[in-house]
Parts: sequence; structure tokens; C-alpha cells
Amino acid sequence: MERPARLCGLWALLLSAGAGGRAARPEFQLPVTNLSVSVENLCTVIWTWNPPEGVGPNCSLSYFSHFGNKQDKKIAPETHRSKEVPLNERICLQVGPQCSTNESDSPSNLEEKCISPPEGDPESAVTELQCIWHYMKLMNCTWLPGRKTSPDTNYILYYWHSSLGKILQCKNIYKEGQHIGCSFALTEVKDSSFEKHSVQVMVKDNAGKIRPSFHIVPLSSHVKPDPPHIKKLFFHNGDLYVQWKNPQNFYSRCLSYQVEVNNSQTKTHDIFYVEEAKCQNSEFEGNLEFISKGTICFMVPGVLPDTLNTVRIRVKTNKLCYEDDKFWSNWSQEMSIGKKDNPALYITMLLTIPVILAVAVMILLLYLKRLKIIIFPPIPDPGKIFKEMFGDQNDDTLHWKKYDIYEKQTKEETDSVVLIENLKRASQ
Ligand SMILES: *[C@@H]1O[C@H](CO)[C@@H](O)[C@H](O)[C@H]1NC(C)=O
Ligand SMILES: *[C@@H]1O[C@H](CO)[C@@H](O)[C@H](O)[C@H]1NC(C)=O
Ligand SMILES: *[C@@H]1O[C@H](CO)[C@@H](O)[C@H](O)[C@H]1NC(C)=O
Ligand SMILES: *[C@@H]1O[C@H](CO)[C@@H](O)[C@H](O)[C@H]1NC(C)=O
Ligand SMILES: *[C@@H]1O[C@H](CO)[C@@H](O)[C@H](O)[C@H]1NC(C)=O
Repeated sequence: MERPARLCGLWALLLSAGAGGRAARPEFQLPVTNLSVSVENLCTVIWTWNPPEGVGPNCSLSYFSHFGNKQDKKIAPETHRSKEVPLNERICLQVGPQCSTNESDSPSNLEEKCISPPEGDPESAVTELQCIWHYMKLMNCTWLPGRKTSPDTNYILYYWHSSLGKILQCKNIYKEGQHIGCSFALTEVKDSSFEKHSVQVMVKDNAGKIRPSFHIVPLSSHVKPDPPHIKKLFFHNGDLYVQWKNPQNFYSRCLSYQVEVNNSQTKTHDIFYVEEAKCQNSEFEGNLEFISKGTICFMVPGVLPDTLNTVRIRVKTNKLCYEDDKFWSNWSQEMSIGKKDNPALYITMLLTIPVILAVAVMILLLYLKRLKIIIFPPIPDPGKIFKEMFGDQNDDTLHWKKYDIYEKQTKEETDSVVLIENLKRASQ
């Protein structure tokens, strides 16, 4: 299969509807001859024809043509016309000769040639086939399986664009939830009119069971830029200035911006749509101290400087330079400005907390000890008590104590002697 393009060609219908009435044209009545249609690449459809017979010498021949419902009328001397068409539907070209470049009021000698979509059940074809160009990096196409598709279908995606020269097969088919996708590199810029071109995409399956689907992605749309990069936030005269760098390969006038400001204190969440990013304040112009080169600047109104503000930005293409403005970039990394909790305070806290804890523990221990004393009073220690009573007279106390004990003992001994003597007397 060196040229999958042929696949497309095969579906060309060689059927040609007869021309309309051939009577009315005063110049000549005959239609063009040998009108035929073919397909190149994936879906570049080319119609060719030959001049009618019997053209007079005074006739400067040109051809009037249009598609299906009188779309894209054209009068030109060439004997061919081409169009990139997603071949999911039948498309027809009508063409007729005339002797001037003026538009005829009622062209009547028109020939028609159509090309039909590929064969197969339309409900087997994939749906929601769409592609997003991650600018100058890769094209990412996704689709959903058709309604009448077996779950084990092996999908194939072919793509073509003018810088390639041949049709390629996308290698990295992946599945993400219901969606199936494939992405391929798209970085080359062969000529400056690259963005006037399109990428042709066809999705089929390797068993030939589903109807192929076609998609044409104009390179002037479906562009998703990389996120911008915030360089700096600063307050000046009470206003917040945001300064950022755009993603590569974009002119700033070709992008629209969104600046998100979250305030941690007021819990507000503001989004500013910026069509033309420019700091109004002329004092910044050329002032590299504030605005460095190649960056974009925006003044955010009404931001409280003494609170913590978190800012992030995203971009999308605008209609000044691109055909659509649908695909936002990812958000940039965020950056904060304003009064945060003082880091010095943190360190002080970090150091004082253990000290405070230690003191608290000590106080607690002391308190517990006192508590213990109250709950479990210590067994009185007479020595201690006397010590307290007599202060420094240690020797005396000792002496007194000895005496006290001695006296007690003598008394007890005396008592028992008396008792024994009494008993003796009683027994006699
Ligand atoms: C139409 O095509 C045939 C075969 O290609 C050729 O012989 C014939 O001359 C063509 N007619 C005109 C009017 O060019
Ligand atoms: C062609 O034009 C010339 C002068 O413009 C005129 O004399 C001649 O009659 C014309 N021939 C025809 C067939 O109309
Ligand atoms: C074509 O149109 C121009 C003005 O629109 C007119 O002057 C000219 O005569 C027309 N030519 C023919 C052959 O009808
Ligand atoms: C800002 O607030 C919004 C809404 O609460 C939230 O969705 C968003 O993630 C916040 N942004 C940042 C950078 O935290
Ligand atoms: C954008 O965000 C998505 C989801 O977080 C991530 O998968 C993707 O890689 C991001 N793209 C870029 C260009 O950073």
C-alpha cells in the first residue's frame, strides 16, 4: 500500500449527470468534454475537462463552475478545478464554457461530475473526529467509535499535509476513556504560507469493516498554544502589574488572554479578559527596569496590596490572525504577591515553641508534685519536723531526741518493774 490515496480515488464515481438544457447560450450550446474527477492525497478532489468542440475564433474561452448548491462560483480559463473535501458526503462540480469572463445570468450548458463517499454503513464510521494542533509541536486527533462497531476494532489514522509529500500512518494510537486518539508531530514550516494549508486526516480500521472517515484541519484554526510564563508581579502606585512572556511562535496581537487573580483573604476569584495586553501607564514604556523586553504587561485594577494574591494566566488565539478562538492553553504556573505570613515570625515561632513547651512541662511537673503531696501526704518524719522547729540547733535536737527516747524507755521499764513487783506481792 504505497499510496493509500488510491483508496480515495477508487471511490470516485464515474457517473456523470447529463447537462442541463443546452439551448439558451448565445455564444455556443455545447458543453465541456471529457469531464472527469479524481482524488489525490487523502482528499484533494480534482476535476478536469476539455474545451467544447466548435469554438469560434472570436471567443476567449473561460469556464464557469460551482459546487453542489451553487457554492463557490468561479469563472476561470483553466480546464481543472480542485478542492480539499472531507469525503464523508457526496460532492459535485458543475462546469460550463463561456466566451467571456463575465458572469452569465443563467448558465445552461453545465456538465456535472460527482464523487461519492466511500462504501460502507455510515453508522459504522467513527464520530466526533476532531484534531487540535499543539502549535508547532504535534497534532492530536480524537474520535469516538461508530454506533455499529465491534469493541475490538483496530483503528488506523492516515494523515497528509503539503510539507510531507506523502501519506503517513499515525503510530501512537491511544485510548482515553471512550475516546480513541492519535497524535503525530507537526512542526515543519516549509514555506511562509504553511498556515494557508490544511492537514488531511482519514480514520479507518485494518479489517475494512468500518466506513472510513475524513477530516480536514485548517492550520489557521484548531490551534492550542502552550501556556504563557509569568515573569513578574509588582505593585506600583497601588496597582498590581502582571508581566508575562507569551508562548513561542505567537505574535502578541494574535492572542487573547485571561488573567486570574485569587485573593486569599477576601476569598475572591477574579478573571480578567484581556484583548490587548498593554500597561496603559505610559511611564513604563521603554522603562526596562519595570518591563523587560518581549514580555506582555497588564494592570489589574482593585487589588489589595496588603493581602496575598495568587495570579495565573492562559492564552488562546484570536480572530485577528486565526479562524477560530476556541482553544485555551493550559494555565500558566501561578505566582503570588502580597503580605504573606512573615517567614521570620515562623522561625521565631519554631524556636520559641519548644522553649514554651519545656517551661510548660516543668510547671506541670511541679504542679503534679504538689498535687501528689496534697493527695498522698508524706509519712511525717519527726527528725524533719524538729529540724524545722529548731532551725540550726542540730546538736541540741539530737541530744534532746536521745534523751527523749531514753526517758521513754526508762519509764516503760519502771512501769514493768512496778507491775512485776505488784504481781509478786499479789501471789504471796
Ligand atoms: C476526450 O478524451 C478522449 C480520450 O482521452 C480523446 O480522444 C478526445 O479527444 C477527448 N475529447 C476532447 C474534446 O478533447
Ligand atoms: C470576430 O471579430 C472580428 C473583429 O473583432 C469581426 O470582424 C468578425 O466578424 C468576428 N467573427 C465572428 C465569427 O464573430
Ligand atoms: C462584461 O461586463 C462588462 C461590465 O461589467 C461590460 O462592459 C462588457 O461589455 C461585458 N462583456 C461581455 C462580453 O458581455
Ligand atoms: C482560584 O479560585 C478558583 C475558584 O475558587 C479555583 O478554581 C482556582 O483553582 C483558584 N486558582 C488558583 C491558582 O488557586
Ligand atoms: C496541559 O494539561 C494537561 C492536563 O493537566 C496535561 O496532560 C498536558 O500535558 C498539559 N499540556 C501542556 C502543553 O502543558
